[in-house]
Amino acid sequence: MTKTPLKASSGPGKTAAPPGSGKSVRVVAVSSGKGGVGKSNLTLGLAYALTSLKRRVLIWDADLGLANTDVLLGIRAERTIHDWLKGERSLKEIVIKAPGGISILPAASGILELSDITGDDKSRLLADFEEWKEELDFMLVDTAAGIGPNVVFFNQVAPERLVVVTGEPTSITDAYALIKALSARHGLKNFYVLPNMVKDLRDAKNVFKLLSDVAGNYLPDVSLDYLGFVPRDDCVPESVRRQTPFFTARPDSEASRRLLDCARTLAAKEPPPSSGGGLSLFLNRLGESSLTVN
Ligand SMILES: Nc1ncnc2c1ncn2[C@@H]1O[C@H](COP(=O)(O)OP(=O)(O)O)[C@@H](O)[C@H]1O
Ligand SMILES: [Mg+2]
Repeated sequence: MTKTPLKASSGPGKTAAPPGSGKSVRVVAVSSGKGGVGKSNLTLGLAYALTSLKRRVLIWDADLGLANTDVLLGIRAERTIHDWLKGERSLKEIVIKAPGGISILPAASGILELSDITGDDKSRLLADFEEWKEELDFMLVDTAAGIGPNVVFFNQVAPERLVVVTGEPTSITDAYALIKALSARHGLKNFYVLPNMVKDLRDAKNVFKLLSDVAGNYLPDVSLDYLGFVPRDDCVPESVRRQTPFFTARPDSEASRRLLDCARTLAAKEPPPSSGGGLSLFLNRLGESSLTVN
């Protein structure tokens, strides 16, 4: 699939907020301590689940090493954010309009350049996103695993943050290490937590409790907010093989139904007060030179 310009009203049954209505676009960075825990699949699934709730969603595929949202969808990104950085394309020309109405901004190396942008580039980015503001409700940023500069950067600029964790002890300790680094070194205190590939609700609550107990003991300022869970379900790897998102291919699966619950919970959340401006805050922070990227 090639890029298609966004239409004024992209979500089914949802009309864009009137221009100047001051609606804020919520920006959520999706991260994990360990790789392979399901970030990309859940980000994509969450995007479809939110779309089914009449929210308009853009995924920023920001995993520079393993960018694969387009692969999960069986489509090919012809241009990336790098083309924007080179000044050759507008953001809308880069965005892929995926089946079902979600939009995807493909990754590229060069995020350090993005964190460095100043002056004209910042104005260009702000102007490009400004056009979009009325057409979006959520931007989900699918980041890399671990605590690399790209992950820190997107967690700093996103007003809301989601950590995906599985029941494996290594996933829990790595999720804790990520939260600890983001809070201790970068002052980020609020995280949604989504246990994935767990057996059932009890298992999910147990994973959340393990993480929140250790955080409660050692990181008293940190607030972890349970968002719901997604069970281990064969429909997910099956859909990966078929390059069709499980949420649309198998809407009746346990994984899809639980993910829809997570989307409902997320949609109903009041973003924390510090998140204020959503996309505007994200954009302002993108251009702030004080961000620590190292
Ligand atoms: N709920 C689930 N049930 C079963 N398999 C899952 C589930 N979530 C993810 N997976 C599998 O885990 C693997 C890693 O998922 P992916 O979304 O690429 O992880 P990440 O982006 O965190 O590296 C994929 O092969 C996917 O099929
Ligand atoms: Mg991934």
